[in-house]
Amino acid sequence: DDWAERGAAVHVQREADANGNVQIKTIKKGVKDFTFGRILGEGSFSTVVAATDRQTLREYAIKILDKRHIIKEKKVKYVNIEKNTLNRLGDHPGIVRLYYTFQDERSLYFVLDLAPNGELFSVLKKLGTLNMECTQYYSAQLLDAVDYMHNHGVIHRDLKPENILLDENMRIKVTDFGTAKLLGVRKPVDGTAGDSSDNISSIPIEDERLNSFVGTAEYVSPELLTDKAAGKSSDIWAFGCILYQLLCGKPPFKASNEYQTFQKIIKLEYSFPAGFPQVARDLVSKLLATDPLKRLTIEQIKAHPFFADVVFGPTLWSRKAPRLA
Ligand code: ADE
Repeated sequence: DDWAERGAAVHVQREADANGNVQIKTIKKGVKDFTFGRILGEGSFSTVVAATDRQTLREYAIKILDKRHIIKEKKVKYVNIEKNTLNRLGDHPGIVRLYYTFQDERSLYFVLDLAPNGELFSVLKKLGTLNMECTQYYSAQLLDAVDYMHNHGVIHRDLKPENILLDENMRIKVTDFGTAKLLGVRKPVDGTAGDSSDNISSIPIEDERLNSFVGTAEYVSPELLTDKAAGKSSDIWAFGCILYQLLCGKPPFKASNEYQTFQKIIKLEYSFPAGFPQVARDLVSKLLATDPLKRLTIEQIKAHPFFADVVFGPTLWSRKAPRLA
């Protein structure tokens, strides 16, 4: 069991042996410590299930990954990236926290914050669009979370409304760091992921297409398509796409297939529907700049009139969520 939690809580068991000597055992949390409940989501390599810690009765979301499938499909690297990244981003209200990891013969388990209100994507699908107040509220939190990631050397690379979850107070939690990039981490020669010693070991990791395409077509930045390079500003591009989508219901670059979508992105072929508020139009157009160097920085976005009445800082995470509209 060389793939286990780092810095995770253990519980302690006292037991007397045959000679009456008290032995103290520390036991890692494992599958048996949780009661599993409803399925929250299913992906191609994982299932997320609601679960309760039997001792504390605290609820979590547990992401269960099938080891055989991951190894067969050569996704070990991404699983390790997700774990290392979440370990690095331990403490921000806008990012899903990883509490424990463990495994059994079949599966890997990530014990995560439960976000009981689901995906921002589902909210948007149900309402069609969000008004300015809601858009400002959710996008300010997203921006703050992205700021924190970037300051901790993490580029998400797959920001989209499906990866923005909502907690019990309707505050966002960014999830799915499986395609994130860790900056300032020396790349080991064997291609194993960065800064942890307790990953799945003894499994050869192929890195066939270094820096190959990651992300979701509609949110991919032009520089990734033309130069195969994604940096922090690629997350800012995706942030611009999401902001546009919250206000008008669909992402700015959308076509019937990925190729056509990529063509639109490269040509910066998008338009604002009538009624798209001017102040949002101004911000989005400065985020969706083809040249990443011309895109606004996070500091510049915070200072944009769109966020005029938002106070960035910890109070952002105690604001009451506006009524959905
Ligand atoms: N679906 C995927 N991850 C989730 C989480 N952490 N909480 C709730 N639903 C989820």
